[in-house]
Amino acid sequence: MMVTQSVYAKYKSDGSFLGNVLEWFDARFPLTSTWKAHLSEYYAPKNFNFWYYFGSLALLVLALQIMTGIFLAMNYKPDASLNADGLPVAFASVSYIMNDVNWGWLIRYMHSTGASAFFIMVYLHMFRGMLYGSYRKPRELTWIFGVVIFVCLMAAAFTGYLLPWGQMSYWGAQVIVNLFSAIPFIGDSLSLWVRGDFVIGDATLNRFFALHIVAIPIALLGLVVAHLLALHENGSNNPDGIEIMDHKDEKGIPLDGIPFHPYYTVKDIVGVAVFLMLFFIIVCYMPEGGGYFLEYNNFLPADAMKTPAHIAPVWYFTPFYSMLRAMVWNFFWIDAKLWGVVAMGGGIVVLAFLPWLDRSPAKSIRYRGPIFKTLLVIFVIGFLILGHLGTKLPGYKYFGVWILDGDVIAQIFTLYYFLFFLTMPYWSKMDKCKPVPERVTWK
Ligand code: HEM
Repeated sequence: MMVTQSVYAKYKSDGSFLGNVLEWFDARFPLTSTWKAHLSEYYAPKNFNFWYYFGSLALLVLALQIMTGIFLAMNYKPDASLNADGLPVAFASVSYIMNDVNWGWLIRYMHSTGASAFFIMVYLHMFRGMLYGSYRKPRELTWIFGVVIFVCLMAAAFTGYLLPWGQMSYWGAQVIVNLFSAIPFIGDSLSLWVRGDFVIGDATLNRFFALHIVAIPIALLGLVVAHLLALHENGSNNPDGIEIMDHKDEKGIPLDGIPFHPYYTVKDIVGVAVFLMLFFIIVCYMPEGGGYFLEYNNFLPADAMKTPAHIAPVWYFTPFYSMLRAMVWNFFWIDAKLWGVVAMGGGIVVLAFLPWLDRSPAKSIRYRGPIFKTLLVIFVIGFLILGHLGTKLPGYKYFGVWILDGDVIAQIFTLYYFLFFLTMPYWSKMDKCKPVPERVTWK
Protein backbone atom coordinates (compact mmCIF):
# COMPACT_ATOMS: atom_id res chain seq x y z
CA MET A 1 0.00 0.00 0.00
CA MET A 2 2.83 2.33 0.90
CA VAL A 3 4.43 1.94 -2.51
CA THR A 4 1.35 2.65 -4.60
CA GLN A 5 0.08 5.40 -2.37
CA SER A 6 3.34 7.29 -2.50
CA VAL A 7 3.53 6.95 -6.30
CA TYR A 8 -0.01 8.20 -6.56
CA ALA A 9 0.62 11.03 -4.12
CA LYS A 10 3.66 12.12 -6.15
CA TYR A 11 1.70 12.35 -9.37
CA LYS A 12 -1.07 14.22 -7.66
CA SER A 13 1.09 16.75 -5.94
CA ASP A 14 4.17 17.53 -8.00
CA GLY A 15 2.37 19.34 -10.79
CA SER A 16 4.03 17.07 -13.37
CA PHE A 17 2.34 16.42 -16.70
CA LEU A 18 1.33 12.91 -15.65
CA GLY A 19 0.07 14.14 -12.32
CA ASN A 20 -2.04 16.77 -14.04
CA VAL A 21 -3.46 14.23 -16.50
CA LEU A 22 -4.35 11.94 -13.62
CA GLU A 23 -5.95 14.80 -11.74
CA TRP A 24 -7.94 15.73 -14.86
CA PHE A 25 -9.19 12.17 -15.22
CA ASP A 26 -10.00 11.80 -11.53
CA ALA A 27 -12.19 14.88 -11.64
CA ARG A 28 -14.25 13.20 -14.37
CA PHE A 29 -13.94 9.44 -13.84
CA PRO A 30 -13.38 7.29 -10.70
CA LEU A 31 -9.97 6.07 -11.89
CA THR A 32 -7.84 6.34 -8.74
CA SER A 33 -10.73 5.47 -6.43
CA THR A 34 -11.50 2.28 -8.43
CA TRP A 35 -7.81 1.35 -8.47
CA LYS A 36 -7.68 1.82 -4.71
CA ALA A 37 -10.98 0.08 -3.92
CA HIS A 38 -10.19 -3.01 -5.99
CA LEU A 39 -6.41 -3.24 -5.97
CA SER A 40 -4.12 -1.08 -3.89
CA GLU A 41 -6.47 -0.77 -0.90
CA TYR A 42 -8.35 -4.01 -1.38
CA TYR A 43 -7.15 -6.13 1.51
CA ALA A 44 -6.77 -9.82 0.84
CA PRO A 45 -5.87 -12.39 3.51
CA LYS A 46 -2.11 -12.77 3.84
CA ASN A 47 -2.24 -16.58 3.79
CA PHE A 48 -3.30 -17.28 0.17
CA ASN A 49 -1.69 -20.48 -1.13
CA PHE A 50 -1.28 -22.41 -4.40
CA TRP A 51 -5.06 -22.87 -4.79
CA TYR A 52 -5.54 -19.13 -5.08
CA TYR A 53 -3.75 -18.92 -8.44
CA PHE A 54 -6.61 -20.29 -10.48
CA GLY A 55 -9.02 -17.32 -10.30
CA SER A 56 -6.52 -14.94 -11.87
CA LEU A 57 -5.45 -17.65 -14.33
CA ALA A 58 -9.10 -18.12 -15.37
CA LEU A 59 -9.18 -14.36 -16.01
CA LEU A 60 -6.02 -14.66 -18.11
CA VAL A 61 -7.49 -17.50 -20.18
CA LEU A 62 -10.71 -15.51 -20.66
CA ALA A 63 -8.66 -12.64 -22.08
CA LEU A 64 -6.65 -15.04 -24.29
CA GLN A 65 -9.83 -16.64 -25.64
CA ILE A 66 -11.36 -13.29 -26.50
CA MET A 67 -8.21 -12.02 -28.21
CA THR A 68 -7.51 -15.17 -30.22
CA GLY A 69 -11.25 -15.46 -31.01
CA ILE A 70 -11.28 -11.99 -32.58
CA PHE A 71 -8.43 -12.94 -34.93
CA LEU A 72 -10.02 -16.28 -35.79
CA ALA A 73 -13.31 -14.56 -36.65
CA MET A 74 -11.45 -12.40 -39.19
CA ASN A 75 -10.81 -15.46 -41.36
CA TYR A 76 -13.45 -17.99 -40.36
CA LYS A 77 -16.68 -18.40 -42.40
CA PRO A 78 -19.80 -19.94 -40.84
CA ASP A 79 -21.06 -21.61 -44.02
CA ALA A 80 -22.08 -25.26 -44.37
CA SER A 81 -22.34 -25.24 -48.18
CA LEU A 82 -19.71 -27.08 -50.21
CA ASN A 83 -16.90 -25.26 -52.03
CA ALA A 84 -15.42 -26.15 -55.43
CA ASP A 85 -13.30 -28.88 -53.79
CA GLY A 86 -16.38 -30.47 -52.28
CA LEU A 87 -15.44 -29.38 -48.75
CA PRO A 88 -17.77 -27.46 -46.41
CA VAL A 89 -16.77 -23.78 -46.53
CA ALA A 90 -16.57 -23.55 -42.70
CA PHE A 91 -14.25 -26.59 -42.53
CA ALA A 92 -12.12 -25.25 -45.39
CA SER A 93 -11.86 -21.82 -43.74
CA VAL A 94 -10.36 -23.47 -40.64
CA SER A 95 -7.86 -25.32 -42.91
CA TYR A 96 -7.08 -21.97 -44.51
CA ILE A 97 -6.42 -20.41 -41.09
CA MET A 98 -4.12 -23.34 -40.23
CA ASN A 99 -2.18 -23.41 -43.49
CA ASP A 100 -2.28 -20.01 -45.16
CA VAL A 101 -2.98 -17.26 -42.64
CA ASN A 102 0.20 -15.85 -41.08
CA TRP A 103 0.47 -17.31 -37.56
CA GLY A 104 -3.02 -18.73 -38.08
CA TRP A 105 -1.98 -22.13 -36.69
CA LEU A 106 -0.78 -20.46 -33.49
CA ILE A 107 -3.95 -18.43 -33.02
CA ARG A 108 -6.16 -21.44 -33.71
CA TYR A 109 -4.24 -23.82 -31.43
CA MET A 110 -4.11 -21.19 -28.68
CA HIS A 111 -7.90 -20.92 -28.90
CA SER A 112 -8.55 -24.69 -28.99
CA THR A 113 -6.04 -25.39 -26.20
CA GLY A 114 -7.41 -22.35 -24.35
CA ALA A 115 -10.83 -24.03 -24.18
CA SER A 116 -9.39 -27.00 -22.29
CA ALA A 117 -7.14 -24.75 -20.20
CA PHE A 118 -10.19 -22.70 -19.23
CA PHE A 119 -11.97 -25.78 -17.88
CA ILE A 120 -8.85 -27.03 -16.07
CA MET A 121 -8.49 -23.63 -14.34
CA VAL A 122 -12.19 -23.41 -13.53
CA TYR A 123 -12.47 -26.98 -12.20
CA LEU A 124 -9.46 -26.36 -9.92
CA HIS A 125 -10.90 -22.97 -8.92
CA MET A 126 -14.24 -24.58 -7.98
CA PHE A 127 -12.48 -27.37 -6.10
CA ARG A 128 -10.61 -24.72 -4.07
CA GLY A 129 -14.05 -23.33 -3.15
CA MET A 130 -15.01 -26.77 -1.84
CA LEU A 131 -11.75 -27.23 0.05
CA TYR A 132 -12.04 -23.99 1.98
CA GLY A 133 -15.83 -23.53 2.10
CA SER A 134 -15.56 -20.33 0.02
CA TYR A 135 -19.21 -20.67 -1.00
CA ARG A 136 -20.43 -20.22 2.60
CA LYS A 137 -21.96 -17.04 4.00
CA PRO A 138 -21.29 -14.20 3.05
CA ARG A 139 -20.00 -15.39 -0.37
CA GLU A 140 -23.07 -17.30 -1.57
CA LEU A 141 -23.65 -14.92 -4.48
CA THR A 142 -20.00 -15.06 -5.57
CA TRP A 143 -20.44 -18.84 -5.77
CA ILE A 144 -23.81 -18.66 -7.57
CA PHE A 145 -22.41 -16.24 -10.15
CA GLY A 146 -19.62 -18.80 -10.50
CA VAL A 147 -22.07 -21.62 -11.20
CA VAL A 148 -23.80 -19.49 -13.87
CA ILE A 149 -20.36 -18.71 -15.35
CA PHE A 150 -19.71 -22.47 -15.46
CA VAL A 151 -22.96 -23.02 -17.41
CA CYS A 152 -22.04 -20.16 -19.78
CA LEU A 153 -18.60 -21.66 -20.26
CA MET A 154 -20.18 -24.98 -21.22
CA ALA A 155 -22.43 -23.16 -23.70
CA ALA A 156 -19.39 -21.35 -25.12
CA ALA A 157 -17.48 -24.61 -25.55
CA PHE A 158 -20.45 -26.43 -27.05
CA THR A 159 -21.32 -23.72 -29.61
CA GLY A 160 -17.62 -23.23 -30.46
CA TYR A 161 -17.09 -26.91 -31.12
CA LEU A 162 -19.66 -26.87 -33.94
CA LEU A 163 -17.81 -24.14 -35.85
CA PRO A 164 -14.98 -26.20 -37.49
CA TRP A 165 -17.82 -28.29 -38.97
CA GLY A 166 -15.92 -31.55 -38.52
CA GLN A 167 -17.45 -34.96 -37.91
CA MET A 168 -17.45 -34.56 -34.11
CA SER A 169 -18.76 -31.02 -34.35
CA TYR A 170 -21.70 -32.26 -36.37
CA TRP A 171 -22.52 -35.49 -34.59
CA GLY A 172 -21.82 -34.14 -31.11
CA ALA A 173 -24.26 -31.30 -31.72
CA GLN A 174 -26.76 -33.77 -33.17
CA VAL A 175 -26.68 -35.88 -29.98
CA ILE A 176 -26.86 -32.96 -27.57
CA VAL A 177 -29.54 -30.94 -29.39
CA ASN A 178 -31.63 -34.10 -29.69
CA LEU A 179 -31.61 -34.32 -25.90
CA PHE A 180 -33.89 -31.29 -25.76
CA SER A 181 -36.58 -33.40 -27.44
CA ALA A 182 -36.75 -35.52 -24.25
CA ILE A 183 -38.41 -32.61 -22.42
CA PRO A 184 -42.15 -33.32 -22.23
CA PHE A 185 -44.60 -31.30 -24.34
CA ILE A 186 -42.20 -28.67 -25.64
CA GLY A 187 -39.17 -30.90 -26.36
CA ASP A 188 -39.57 -31.41 -30.12
CA SER A 189 -40.38 -27.77 -30.81
CA LEU A 190 -37.52 -26.69 -28.57
CA SER A 191 -34.91 -28.79 -30.39
CA LEU A 192 -36.26 -27.58 -33.74
CA TRP A 193 -36.01 -23.99 -32.48
CA VAL A 194 -32.42 -24.50 -31.29
CA ARG A 195 -31.35 -26.11 -34.59
CA GLY A 196 -33.32 -23.73 -36.80
CA ASP A 197 -33.89 -26.73 -39.07
CA PHE A 198 -34.96 -30.37 -38.85
CA VAL A 199 -31.32 -31.46 -38.84
CA ILE A 200 -28.11 -29.72 -37.79
CA GLY A 201 -27.38 -27.53 -40.81
CA ASP A 202 -26.36 -24.14 -42.09
CA ALA A 203 -28.97 -22.36 -39.95
CA THR A 204 -27.59 -24.07 -36.84
CA LEU A 205 -24.03 -23.17 -37.76
CA ASN A 206 -24.94 -19.50 -38.23
CA ARG A 207 -26.81 -19.15 -34.96
CA PHE A 208 -24.14 -21.05 -33.00
CA PHE A 209 -21.57 -18.67 -34.51
CA ALA A 210 -23.59 -15.62 -33.38
CA LEU A 211 -24.01 -17.09 -29.90
CA HIS A 212 -20.36 -18.12 -29.66
CA ILE A 213 -18.80 -14.86 -30.71
CA VAL A 214 -21.29 -12.27 -29.44
CA ALA A 215 -23.96 -13.34 -26.97
CA ILE A 216 -22.03 -15.77 -24.76
CA PRO A 217 -18.83 -13.68 -24.43
CA ILE A 218 -20.89 -10.63 -23.43
CA ALA A 219 -22.76 -12.69 -20.84
CA LEU A 220 -19.49 -14.20 -19.59
CA LEU A 221 -17.78 -10.83 -19.22
CA GLY A 222 -20.78 -9.37 -17.37
CA LEU A 223 -20.94 -12.39 -15.07
CA VAL A 224 -17.22 -12.25 -14.30
CA VAL A 225 -17.57 -8.56 -13.34
CA ALA A 226 -20.55 -9.45 -11.12
CA HIS A 227 -18.56 -12.38 -9.65
CA LEU A 228 -15.68 -10.10 -8.67
CA LEU A 229 -17.89 -7.27 -7.40
CA ALA A 230 -19.72 -9.75 -5.18
CA LEU A 231 -16.39 -11.11 -3.95
CA HIS A 232 -15.00 -7.64 -3.20
CA GLU A 233 -18.11 -6.71 -1.22
CA ASN A 234 -17.01 -8.99 1.65
CA GLY A 235 -13.45 -9.79 0.67
CA SER A 236 -11.84 -13.14 -0.08
CA ASN A 237 -12.02 -16.25 2.01
CA ASN A 238 -8.69 -17.99 2.72
CA PRO A 239 -7.20 -21.44 3.45
CA ASP A 240 -8.17 -21.12 7.14
CA GLY A 241 -11.78 -20.24 6.30
CA ILE A 242 -11.70 -17.31 8.76
CA GLU A 243 -13.20 -13.86 8.20
CA ILE A 244 -10.28 -11.41 8.28
CA MET A 245 -12.74 -8.49 8.46
CA ASP A 246 -13.57 -9.53 12.05
CA HIS A 247 -10.19 -8.25 13.27
CA LYS A 248 -9.32 -4.74 12.16
CA ASP A 249 -6.90 -2.09 13.45
CA GLU A 250 -7.96 1.42 14.51
CA LYS A 251 -7.89 2.59 10.87
CA GLY A 252 -10.30 -0.17 9.87
CA ILE A 253 -7.60 -2.20 8.08
CA PRO A 254 -7.88 -5.98 8.63
CA LEU A 255 -4.97 -7.18 10.77
CA ASP A 256 -4.51 -10.31 8.67
CA GLY A 257 -4.89 -8.53 5.34
CA ILE A 258 -2.38 -7.23 2.82
CA PRO A 259 -3.15 -4.97 -0.19
CA PHE A 260 -3.92 -7.01 -3.28
CA HIS A 261 -1.60 -4.74 -5.24
CA PRO A 262 1.37 -5.06 -5.20
CA TYR A 263 1.52 -8.26 -3.11
CA TYR A 264 -0.82 -10.55 -4.99
CA THR A 265 -0.37 -8.96 -8.41
CA VAL A 266 3.31 -9.90 -8.08
CA LYS A 267 2.52 -13.37 -6.70
CA ASP A 268 0.05 -13.99 -9.54
CA ILE A 269 2.77 -13.21 -12.10
CA VAL A 270 4.56 -16.37 -10.92
CA GLY A 271 1.40 -18.38 -11.65
CA VAL A 272 1.05 -16.68 -15.03
CA ALA A 273 4.66 -17.50 -15.97
CA VAL A 274 4.33 -21.19 -15.05
CA PHE A 275 0.93 -21.42 -16.74
CA LEU A 276 2.13 -19.82 -19.98
CA MET A 277 5.13 -22.17 -20.15
CA LEU A 278 2.93 -25.26 -19.83
CA PHE A 279 0.30 -23.76 -22.14
CA PHE A 280 2.74 -23.07 -24.96
CA ILE A 281 4.40 -26.50 -24.62
CA ILE A 282 0.96 -27.97 -25.36
CA VAL A 283 0.12 -25.44 -28.09
CA CYS A 284 3.42 -26.05 -29.89
CA TYR A 285 4.07 -29.75 -29.31
CA MET A 286 0.78 -31.51 -28.57
CA PRO A 287 -2.17 -29.32 -29.57
CA GLU A 288 -4.48 -32.32 -30.00
CA GLY A 289 -3.76 -33.29 -26.37
CA GLY A 290 -3.79 -36.99 -27.28
CA GLY A 291 -7.23 -36.61 -28.88
CA TYR A 292 -8.66 -35.11 -25.67
CA PHE A 293 -8.31 -31.41 -26.60
CA LEU A 294 -9.06 -31.87 -30.32
CA GLU A 295 -10.68 -35.16 -31.25
CA TYR A 296 -9.13 -36.95 -34.25
CA ASN A 297 -12.54 -37.41 -35.90
CA ASN A 298 -12.89 -33.65 -36.07
CA PHE A 299 -10.12 -33.43 -38.66
CA LEU A 300 -12.65 -35.01 -41.08
CA PRO A 301 -15.33 -32.76 -42.63
CA ALA A 302 -18.90 -33.13 -41.33
CA ASP A 303 -20.82 -35.77 -43.24
CA ALA A 304 -24.50 -36.27 -42.49
CA MET A 305 -24.34 -39.70 -44.18
CA LYS A 306 -21.53 -41.15 -42.03
CA THR A 307 -22.16 -41.53 -38.30
CA PRO A 308 -18.85 -42.04 -36.43
CA ALA A 309 -18.68 -45.35 -34.54
CA HIS A 310 -17.94 -43.52 -31.29
CA ILE A 311 -19.41 -40.10 -30.54
CA ALA A 312 -17.88 -38.71 -27.36
CA PRO A 313 -17.87 -35.14 -26.10
CA VAL A 314 -14.65 -33.31 -25.21
CA TRP A 315 -13.18 -34.31 -21.82
CA TYR A 316 -14.62 -31.39 -19.83
CA PHE A 317 -18.19 -32.52 -20.52
CA THR A 318 -17.61 -36.20 -19.91
CA PRO A 319 -18.41 -36.42 -16.15
CA PHE A 320 -21.85 -34.98 -16.85
CA TYR A 321 -22.20 -37.03 -20.05
CA SER A 322 -21.59 -40.15 -17.95
CA MET A 323 -24.43 -39.09 -15.63
CA LEU A 324 -26.67 -38.75 -18.69
CA ARG A 325 -25.78 -42.24 -19.89
CA ALA A 326 -26.01 -43.77 -16.41
CA MET A 327 -29.78 -43.37 -16.43
CA VAL A 328 -30.99 -46.42 -18.31
CA TRP A 329 -34.29 -47.14 -16.57
CA ASN A 330 -37.76 -45.86 -17.29
CA PHE A 331 -39.27 -45.33 -13.87
CA PHE A 332 -42.37 -43.61 -12.68
CA TRP A 333 -43.91 -42.38 -15.92
CA ILE A 334 -40.66 -40.84 -17.12
CA ASP A 335 -38.43 -42.47 -19.70
CA ALA A 336 -34.69 -43.06 -19.34
CA LYS A 337 -33.70 -40.31 -21.76
CA LEU A 338 -35.47 -37.67 -19.70
CA TRP A 339 -33.97 -39.05 -16.48
CA GLY A 340 -30.60 -38.75 -18.17
CA VAL A 341 -31.21 -35.09 -19.02
CA VAL A 342 -32.44 -34.47 -15.45
CA ALA A 343 -29.30 -36.13 -14.02
CA MET A 344 -26.98 -34.16 -16.30
CA GLY A 345 -28.68 -30.83 -15.58
CA GLY A 346 -29.22 -31.68 -11.91
CA GLY A 347 -25.51 -32.43 -11.52
CA ILE A 348 -24.79 -28.78 -12.29
CA VAL A 349 -27.81 -27.18 -10.61
CA VAL A 350 -27.10 -28.94 -7.31
CA LEU A 351 -23.81 -27.01 -7.09
CA ALA A 352 -25.74 -23.76 -6.72
CA PHE A 353 -27.29 -25.06 -3.48
CA LEU A 354 -23.97 -25.95 -1.88
CA PRO A 355 -23.92 -22.83 0.38
CA TRP A 356 -27.09 -24.09 2.08
CA LEU A 357 -26.34 -27.80 2.02
CA ASP A 358 -23.12 -27.44 3.98
CA ARG A 359 -23.86 -27.01 7.72
CA SER A 360 -20.39 -27.64 9.09
CA PRO A 361 -19.21 -25.30 11.91
CA ALA A 362 -15.80 -25.02 10.16
CA LYS A 363 -15.40 -23.82 6.59
CA SER A 364 -11.92 -24.98 5.72
CA ILE A 365 -10.82 -28.58 5.25
CA ARG A 366 -7.99 -27.75 7.68
CA TYR A 367 -10.45 -27.83 10.58
CA ARG A 368 -13.11 -30.17 9.23
CA GLY A 369 -13.53 -33.72 10.43
CA PRO A 370 -12.82 -37.18 8.99
CA ILE A 371 -16.28 -37.62 7.45
CA PHE A 372 -15.83 -34.63 5.14
CA LYS A 373 -12.28 -35.59 4.22
CA THR A 374 -13.21 -39.19 3.39
CA LEU A 375 -16.35 -38.33 1.45
CA LEU A 376 -14.54 -35.58 -0.48
CA VAL A 377 -11.73 -37.94 -1.55
CA ILE A 378 -14.31 -40.47 -2.81
CA PHE A 379 -16.19 -37.62 -4.53
CA VAL A 380 -13.06 -36.53 -6.43
CA ILE A 381 -12.15 -40.10 -7.42
CA GLY A 382 -15.75 -40.72 -8.50
CA PHE A 383 -15.89 -37.51 -10.55
CA LEU A 384 -12.62 -38.42 -12.33
CA ILE A 385 -13.87 -41.94 -13.04
CA LEU A 386 -17.15 -40.52 -14.42
CA GLY A 387 -15.05 -38.25 -16.62
CA HIS A 388 -12.97 -41.19 -17.86
CA LEU A 389 -16.00 -43.39 -18.52
CA GLY A 390 -17.64 -40.60 -20.54
CA THR A 391 -14.84 -40.93 -23.09
CA LYS A 392 -15.50 -44.69 -23.49
CA LEU A 393 -18.17 -46.59 -25.38
CA PRO A 394 -21.10 -47.98 -23.35
CA GLY A 395 -20.28 -51.49 -22.18
CA TYR A 396 -16.63 -50.60 -21.49
CA LYS A 397 -14.91 -52.84 -18.92
CA TYR A 398 -11.81 -51.84 -16.97
CA PHE A 399 -9.00 -54.32 -17.79
CA GLY A 400 -11.63 -56.31 -19.70
CA VAL A 401 -12.88 -57.73 -16.36
CA TRP A 402 -16.66 -58.27 -16.29
CA ILE A 403 -17.05 -57.14 -12.69
CA LEU A 404 -15.44 -53.78 -13.49
CA ASP A 405 -18.32 -52.94 -15.80
CA GLY A 406 -18.09 -49.24 -16.76
CA ASP A 407 -21.86 -48.79 -17.00
CA VAL A 408 -22.44 -50.06 -13.45
CA ILE A 409 -19.51 -48.06 -12.10
CA ALA A 410 -20.92 -44.92 -13.75
CA GLN A 411 -24.29 -45.61 -12.13
CA ILE A 412 -22.69 -46.08 -8.72
CA PHE A 413 -20.69 -42.85 -8.92
CA THR A 414 -23.62 -40.88 -10.33
CA LEU A 415 -25.63 -42.00 -7.32
CA TYR A 416 -22.70 -41.11 -5.06
CA TYR A 417 -22.39 -37.65 -6.65
CA PHE A 418 -25.99 -36.80 -5.78
CA LEU A 419 -25.93 -38.47 -2.37
CA PHE A 420 -22.77 -36.52 -1.48
CA PHE A 421 -24.64 -33.24 -1.94
CA LEU A 422 -28.14 -34.21 -0.84
CA THR A 423 -27.05 -35.85 2.42
CA MET A 424 -24.53 -33.10 3.18
CA PRO A 425 -26.84 -31.24 5.63
CA TYR A 426 -26.72 -34.34 7.88
CA TRP A 427 -23.13 -35.50 7.73
CA SER A 428 -21.59 -32.02 7.64
CA LYS A 429 -23.28 -31.23 10.96
CA MET A 430 -22.27 -34.50 12.65
CA ASP A 431 -18.61 -34.34 11.64
CA LYS A 432 -16.03 -33.83 14.40
CA CYS A 433 -14.38 -30.50 13.51
CA LYS A 434 -11.22 -29.14 15.13
CA PRO A 435 -11.41 -25.76 16.91
CA VAL A 436 -11.05 -22.92 14.37
CA PRO A 437 -8.41 -20.32 15.36
CA GLU A 438 -9.34 -16.64 15.79
CA ARG A 439 -6.67 -15.34 13.42
CA VAL A 440 -5.21 -16.77 10.22
CA THR A 441 -2.24 -19.10 10.56
CA TRP A 442 0.71 -18.00 8.50
CA LYS A 443 4.41 -18.76 8.47
C1 HEM B 1 -14.55 -17.34 -16.13
C2 HEM B 1 -14.47 -18.02 -15.03
C3 HEM B 1 -14.06 -17.44 -13.70
C4 HEM B 1 -13.21 -16.41 -13.44
C5 HEM B 1 -12.45 -15.55 -14.46
C6 HEM B 1 -13.15 -16.26 -12.00
C7 HEM B 1 -12.37 -15.33 -11.36
C8 HEM B 1 -12.20 -15.25 -9.99
C9 HEM B 1 -11.21 -14.44 -9.33
C10 HEM B 1 -10.19 -13.55 -10.04
C11 HEM B 1 -11.36 -14.63 -8.00
C12 HEM B 1 -10.52 -13.99 -6.90
C13 HEM B 1 -9.19 -14.71 -6.80
C14 HEM B 1 -9.33 -16.08 -6.22
O1 HEM B 1 -9.97 -16.23 -5.18
O2 HEM B 1 -8.82 -17.05 -6.85
C15 HEM B 1 -12.46 -15.55 -7.79
C16 HEM B 1 -12.94 -15.98 -6.57
C17 HEM B 1 -13.94 -16.93 -6.39
N1 HEM B 1 -14.57 -17.66 -7.39
FE1 HEM B 1 -14.28 -17.42 -9.39
N2 HEM B 1 -13.96 -17.19 -11.42
C18 HEM B 1 -14.52 -17.95 -12.41
C19 HEM B 1 -15.38 -19.03 -12.25
C20 HEM B 1 -15.86 -19.49 -11.03
C21 HEM B 1 -16.72 -20.62 -10.85
C22 HEM B 1 -17.22 -21.50 -12.00
C23 HEM B 1 -16.97 -20.72 -9.51
C24 HEM B 1 -17.83 -21.72 -8.76
C25 HEM B 1 -18.83 -22.35 -9.21
C26 HEM B 1 -16.26 -19.67 -8.83
C27 HEM B 1 -16.27 -19.44 -7.47
C28 HEM B 1 -15.47 -18.52 -6.81
C29 HEM B 1 -15.45 -18.32 -5.37
C30 HEM B 1 -16.32 -19.02 -4.31
C31 HEM B 1 -14.50 -17.32 -5.11
C32 HEM B 1 -14.08 -16.79 -3.74
C33 HEM B 1 -12.95 -17.65 -3.29
C34 HEM B 1 -12.37 -17.31 -1.95
O3 HEM B 1 -12.50 -16.17 -1.53
O4 HEM B 1 -11.81 -18.25 -1.34
N3 HEM B 1 -15.59 -18.95 -9.78
N4 HEM B 1 -12.96 -15.92 -9.03
